[in-house]
Amino acid sequence: MAYETIIVETRGKVGLITLNRPKALNALNSEVLKEVVAAVNGFGANPDIGAMVITGSEKAFAAGADIKEMQAISFVDAYVQDFFVGWEEFARTRKPIIAAVAGYALGGGCELAMMCDFIIAADNAKFGQPEITLGVMPGMGGSQRLTRFVGKSKAMDMCLTGRMMDAAEAERCGLVSRVVPAGELLEEALMAAAKIADFSLPSVMMAKEAVNRAYETTLAEGLRFERRLFHSLFALDDQKEGMAAFAEKRKPNFTNR
Ligand code: CAA
Repeated sequence: MAYETIIVETRGKVGLITLNRPKALNALNSEVLKEVVAAVNGFGANPDIGAMVITGSEKAFAAGADIKEMQAISFVDAYVQDFFVGWEEFARTRKPIIAAVAGYALGGGCELAMMCDFIIAADNAKFGQPEITLGVMPGMGGSQRLTRFVGKSKAMDMCLTGRMMDAAEAERCGLVSRVVPAGELLEEALMAAAKIADFSLPSVMMAKEAVNRAYETTLAEGLRFERRLFHSLFALDDQKEGMAAFAEKRKPNFTNR
């Protein structure tokens, strides 16, 4: 597929998606949605890919949903089309995906980063949910995911005042997993993804599924779910190989079987 708003590459076992609408600070319009979903689905179906990274430019990961595209939409159109529901397909992707965020991650940009499994931020990153300043509110998951990431007080602060949070504050409150110098962002994210992609894919996918389950269920159910997934991994050659390699003091050779 030829892409117009993103660049799609592979780096070894890692799929790399770069948002590429520099003139609009990577604002997320319907074409970006279509292309990003196609790219993650393509990597999802590609047996040679074990993890993905999504990134933007040094100035902007994404400055939000495309305001100019959205401004004329009526309530009926938004409701009947279930505007933004398409992003749920992105959030459901089963292979790990890391958001490498430099510059602005605002509105839908912050929400897109939070749909990923974790966020690595450049030291110039700025996160925010400024929808309130436009007379609306978050619509791609911000009120729900941000609250789960940072707690009620800070999520309310961000959603009600529309203020931005810098990378240091984002790391302090658990929105991002690490902060790195801007010049090292992509390398750091690709290295993390390559590390993940070298592990056994089924165990990586189950670990992702289990952590995500923590957001949706009770502790007792989550613990039971985790244990059942853990048990099922003993059916894999990779479990035998991983543990044998440890005992024999060598590197494991995982086959994803
Ligand atoms: N949608 C459409 N175009 C956007 C955009 C957006 N979200 N963000 C920036 N742009 C465009 C600007 O209109 C401008 O285009 P022109 O050159 O044609 O005028 C270009 O990108 C560069 O932007 P600025 O000149 O504004 O750049 P700046 O450096 O002065 O400011 C900024 C940067 C603070 C990020 C500012 O662009 C800004 O405030 N952008 C909007 C942020 C925002 O409100 N995001 C939330 C969108 S709503 C949403 O996301 C809903 C949801 O929940 C999903």
